[in-house]
Amino acid sequence: MAFPHTNSAPQFNLNAPGLAHDPHWYRKAVFYEVLVQSFADANEDGAGDFSGLISRLDYLQWLGIDCLWLPPFFDSPQLDGGYDVRDFTAVMETYGTILDFKSLVTQAHERGMRIIIDLPINHTSDQHPWFKASREHPDGPFGDYYMWSDTTDLYQDARVIFVDTEESNWTFDPIRRQFFWHRFFGHQPDLNFANPAVRDAIFNVVRFWMEQGIDGFRADAIPYLFAEDGTNCENLPPTHQFLQDLRAMVDAEFPGRVIIAEANQMPHEVVDYFGTEENPECHMAFHFPIMPRLYYALRDQKAAPIVETMANTPSIPRGAQWGTFLRNHDELTLEMVTPSEREAMLGWYAPDSRMRANIGIRRRLAPLLDNSRAEIELINALLLALPGSPFLYYGDEIGMGDNIWLDDRDASRTPMQWNPDRNAGFSNADPGKLFLPVVQSLVYHYNHVNVEAQTAHTSSLLHWNKQILKVRKAHPAFGLGRYDNVETSHESVLAFLRVLPVGNAEGEAPEIILCVFNLSQHPSAATLNLPGLAGRGLRDVFGGDIFPGIDDGGHLTLTLGSYDFFWLRVRSQSSNALSTQTQALPVIDGSEFGY
Ligand code: NOJ
Repeated sequence: MAFPHTNSAPQFNLNAPGLAHDPHWYRKAVFYEVLVQSFADANEDGAGDFSGLISRLDYLQWLGIDCLWLPPFFDSPQLDGGYDVRDFTAVMETYGTILDFKSLVTQAHERGMRIIIDLPINHTSDQHPWFKASREHPDGPFGDYYMWSDTTDLYQDARVIFVDTEESNWTFDPIRRQFFWHRFFGHQPDLNFANPAVRDAIFNVVRFWMEQGIDGFRADAIPYLFAEDGTNCENLPPTHQFLQDLRAMVDAEFPGRVIIAEANQMPHEVVDYFGTEENPECHMAFHFPIMPRLYYALRDQKAAPIVETMANTPSIPRGAQWGTFLRNHDELTLEMVTPSEREAMLGWYAPDSRMRANIGIRRRLAPLLDNSRAEIELINALLLALPGSPFLYYGDEIGMGDNIWLDDRDASRTPMQWNPDRNAGFSNADPGKLFLPVVQSLVYHYNHVNVEAQTAHTSSLLHWNKQILKVRKAHPAFGLGRYDNVETSHESVLAFLRVLPVGNAEGEAPEIILCVFNLSQHPSAATLNLPGLAGRGLRDVFGGDIFPGIDDGGHLTLTLGSYDFFWLRVRSQSSNALSTQTQALPVIDGSEFGY
């Protein structure tokens, strides 16, 4: 099938001899966010490094990960977890060398895993040579690389994002004796994208990393590239134009590599970051609105917040895909929920003010759900069944805890817990030397929450995660299928179909999966309305058991235990019957999801 967004022939990353040719890999992949600093320390300096990560690739392959996402590992003063870049083409010395990075890419590819990196192109550190030159020589070649002003009058309608630390988006620079514009920390000046030299420089940064063999990148903080007085300075037309130009360059020079938009915006705004089939922008965009609603629905014990968010999710162009997630290296952002939902969520999930950061919650998945295994399984099953490619966060597969006594988002960036040995097997360094302490709280202590212990017993959360990832991978409808909401008789029971129609481009078997979730802490019985599937049988995709089928009136009554869920494959009577009946299904979102 032609790669829908480009006129050039589809090619996969030619630097990746270990990978199967699959131009749509990102639409089916399971991503895993791994902080180099936090994963494994090979050189015993107390911080993780590329060699350490390489030594753990076998584990990630075993778990069933398709692609690693590496947050910034570039040279940086580390005042914002590396998102404050001092040199875009050098790596942090403590992590290794560029050659080590290339070796990581090669060795991941050899195991069939891809690598995407994170490019914070909206801003730099104030220690970046471009900024130093800009503040010292206003008339020099870098004088116009940043957004300078004599006053703070401009862009007053732009919100402050880091409300915990910043009062204004303008900071006075005593050297240039002017204010500079910044959307994040005051040590992170925004680049001036109106200057063509800046746009060229950023294109060259992208080229540099593509040439190191990466499979794509996350475009950090992408809504803020351009500012315009009288607007909120987000999602402006020139920002979209820049992304179209960037995509055209990537398609022409590095076909098959992907761009993922980090745009924490409302659904109708996020969707613009895919662009159109004629003028594509990003291949993927994170689905920020659905994430908090999964948590909300769980405590509210009602399906409605999820149903409504999915109904409000616009269709996306062919070849595009959502990125979905439960947690990442940032706070669990509550910007996409209403003020009353936010209040409720802070009460449920962040009763201690230490658990809060900016407009969100700085906790990991397991502590958020009070270490309830049933709820952790339920929310993961939701993540993996809803449309989009899931992005897992390192350590959540074993239910790692956090440390709210650490600053800011470091609370959930602590060392990976490999075993019960010194420093949780993360490092052989003196424990006092670690970049952050390992978690030693009562419930989440690395003595018992670690990979080795969970590998050793097959009913662990780790084995459960491995198993569900394997099942998901065996059913392409989860990655490529259409989403159709299913009406249920119980407010706590959510049901939907993932439909991969006959004639899909990749020759895979036609598939309809019925996904049903009980969001209540109590058992629930619900009748589902499935008019297009009357008389069809059902088979559980985990154990293979045949379930009672849908009756001739198109109804199915199911009983689910507390926080229970089912993924049931709708059995075909014959391919012809499946084709006819699939077409008769109601299409809720109208999107083609690639067909
Ligand atoms: C988005 C990143 O996810 C976050 O960690 C960072 O602080 C901001 N961009 C600013 O760089």
